[in-house]
Amino acid sequence: MDKLVIEGGYRLQGDVNISGSKNASLPILAASLLTNEQCHIKNVPELDDVITLSTLFQHMGILVKVEGNDVILDTRQISSVEVTYDIVRKMRASVLVLGPLLARFGRARVSLPGGCAIGARPIDIHLKGLEAMGAKIKLEHGYVEALAPAGGLYGARIVCGLPSVTATENLMMAACLARGITVIENAALEPEIVELAEALKKMGAKIKGAGSEKIEIEGQDYLDSLVHTVGPDRIEIGTFIAMAAITEGDMVLRRVKPEQLGSIIEHFRKAGCNITELNSNDVNDGYKDLRVQGPEKLKAVDISTAPYPGFATDMQAQLMACMTVAEGISHIEETIFENRFMHVLELIRMGADISMHSNMAVVTGVKNLSGAPVMATDLRASASLVIAALKAEGRSEILRIYHLDRGYVRLEERLQSLGAKVFREKQ
Ligand code: EPZ
Repeated sequence: MDKLVIEGGYRLQGDVNISGSKNASLPILAASLLTNEQCHIKNVPELDDVITLSTLFQHMGILVKVEGNDVILDTRQISSVEVTYDIVRKMRASVLVLGPLLARFGRARVSLPGGCAIGARPIDIHLKGLEAMGAKIKLEHGYVEALAPAGGLYGARIVCGLPSVTATENLMMAACLARGITVIENAALEPEIVELAEALKKMGAKIKGAGSEKIEIEGQDYLDSLVHTVGPDRIEIGTFIAMAAITEGDMVLRRVKPEQLGSIIEHFRKAGCNITELNSNDVNDGYKDLRVQGPEKLKAVDISTAPYPGFATDMQAQLMACMTVAEGISHIEETIFENRFMHVLELIRMGADISMHSNMAVVTGVKNLSGAPVMATDLRASASLVIAALKAEGRSEILRIYHLDRGYVRLEERLQSLGAKVFREKQ
């Protein structure tokens, strides 16, 4: 297992090109199951999760061609509607094929994802919604066996118990081929939902209200081919903002949609960062370049994670790393996942002063962290350890960085180009 070796204390400066969004790519790749026409998805990040999903598709008999950031899919030869445990346990987002398979082929057999490092991660909201559309769902031997009624899924009014991101995506995709109108209430508002709806509409889907609590979908008999370029990864943007913040850096993040960051920019400004939108790209396509300058000393801020447009849970660990060296005491509450504090003990090993009170971390800023060998446990926790190591005095080693590779493309190369002293040690 590879590890990252980082010598802390260097300011990060320069331009950053943001990768395509992992959490937008995965559902849009799954949407290709809804048509027997060819789909061409561009700017897909070269991440382990995308490789896992492509492997899954190949196991199902789908023709998948990956050329750099382009993925071309042809589901005409699909031969299986089963997704096995060994794939799903590597990437729980594989559950996103459940809705499309059921809607297009009338059946699906998908392994239950099981829990993960950050929580139990049940899929009851996905399953209840599909049952409302007429699916018969059986859970046995660790698998979801789903069967659509004879005439196919039918439209229904679905109220999600929680604004679940992938449940909203699964149900929206299933509804595109259901007979009649489906209304999803208490739907997730995340930008990934809006982008998926844009892609589905390009395929001929009739969707209204994506990005609001209530989404209405009018089912179609079939969907057309798709050509779609995935937008920038908002959590990668937030992660680079945190890196500039903690190293007193000066970065320009290229082609960003600031409104997709929810309250991330506002909180880093409150912590003392100077974040300005540059109108440097001449095409007025809604993208801006974002200049981020970190202060000499960060100020403590309090956050409570919330669904979009609140402070993203996927940015909680990264902000916490910054708060360990901020002036004052910050209160960081995690309201989405029950165990998303695996990074705390590792940050404490680096000299952080953090006390835990149920789902609240109280972080008292220290003068500086000291480099240490630490263990990555999940994707965003590993990003948090990289951020801390970039600041810490001396050398840090971050073990098990396969977690990092799931969500960040060649991060060490991009950090090197910004002036960080980091290299990957192949194990
Ligand atoms: C998506 O996961 C993201 N993953 C996660 O990003 C992100 O942390 C999460 O949304 C919240 O924003 C992808 O988009 C691939 P949820 P998802 O369903 O959809 C509970 C990363 O780091 N829940 O919105 O699985 C659940 O337990 C990953 O990139 C149910 O109870 O999250 C959680 O407490 C990590 N029943 C809450 O809802 C369900 O059926 C929100 O989860 C579904 C969810």
